[in-house]
Amino acid sequence: MNDALFRQLPFTLRSTDFPTLGEKYEGKVRDVYRQGDRLVLITTDRLSAFDHVLTTLPFKGDLLNQLAHFWFQKTAHVVKNHVIDQPDPCVTVAKRAEPYAIEFVVRGYLTGSLWRDYEKGLDPYALKLAPGLKKDSRFDQPLITPSTKAPKGQHDEPLSVADVVRRGTMTQKQWDEAAQVALALFAEGQEQAAARGLILVDTKYELGQVKGELHVIDEMHTPDSSRYWLAAEYAQRFAAGQPQAMLDKENLRQWLISERGFSGHGPLPQIPDEIRVGLTEKYLEAWRQITGSAFQARGRRRQRPAREEPRAREAALTGLSVAGENQRQRIGRADAEVEVLLAELVG
Ligand SMILES: Nc1ncnc2c1ncn2[C@@H]1O[C@H](COP(=O)(O)OP(=O)(O)OP(=O)(O)O)[C@@H](O)[C@H]1O
Ligand SMILES: [Mg+2]
Repeated sequence: MNDALFRQLPFTLRSTDFPTLGEKYEGKVRDVYRQGDRLVLITTDRLSAFDHVLTTLPFKGDLLNQLAHFWFQKTAHVVKNHVIDQPDPCVTVAKRAEPYAIEFVVRGYLTGSLWRDYEKGLDPYALKLAPGLKKDSRFDQPLITPSTKAPKGQHDEPLSVADVVRRGTMTQKQWDEAAQVALALFAEGQEQAAARGLILVDTKYELGQVKGELHVIDEMHTPDSSRYWLAAEYAQRFAAGQPQAMLDKENLRQWLISERGFSGHGPLPQIPDEIRVGLTEKYLEAWRQITGSAFQARGRRRQRPAREEPRAREAALTGLSVAGENQRQRIGRADAEVEVLLAELVG
């Protein structure tokens, strides 16, 4: 296992407190500060599964925020996104949208919670899938399985497209536009992932209106909001009925279900350090595969003193460019930096 990552475990960013940035809303992963028609989203290192925050992962906030930016840029020709600026690796300044209270989940394969429902004979999205499908089957066309965006502490609920309109959450016209955009984003994501040897299996989008125009908001195509499989291994694993090679949070969900009997209800399980490090490695691998280069941890701006060379070497070996200084210092300093930068930007 990766010693450098183990040593980072005590120094993750769990929460922020910047009263000067405006009113704070704490999502499961992001701390969101509101300033008029702008939001400052700080992606922390928190890790959630089944709608509960369970632990933190080193570098997760920086990695997720930057990966979301990568994808926002790559899909800017498909639909507008909420990004105004990225003043720090874990910070996005965004246009505040009127979000639709729906999570737009697009799926290319029968897996994850959809497979778990299908196996039990449940059809909460009224998809009427053919009987007898195998786990991880590819759909001819990607499907949208919407769910409600539940208030914090509650579980998102699956619902059919007809229900979205019947409940008055969206008009049919709004749904049609949003669905078309979600599918177009997904097609773009699948194509670009395929070019890098990955399958974008499924993903969740949040969409909203900014001045009457549809925007994609929150995050995009990250390993928190998406499943990624190694394309080269798909067919053989599928034929053999083996689990896919996954570079995303599904690794944790399956561990929680099989090892802790946890799927969102009951007391929250402790997450052992090995599991945290193992999942961090998956996220770093997802980064490497998607972007084509190793993830650069922050702190490289500063010259490394010679005495820290062994750590630098170790970092190179582990595929990480860890700053020579310890992470706690960097968070203390980084928070101050973030605040100054944001005060300039938003103030
Ligand atoms: N541009 C935007 N305009 C308005 N709201 C946004 C925008 N971008 C993100 N959000 C909201 O900010 C929050 C981001 O926090 P985070 O991603 O941690 O939440 P989450 O776990 O997805 O959902 P929850 O808010 O239910 O915890 C979400 O509620 C998201 O809907
Ligand atoms: Mg979110």
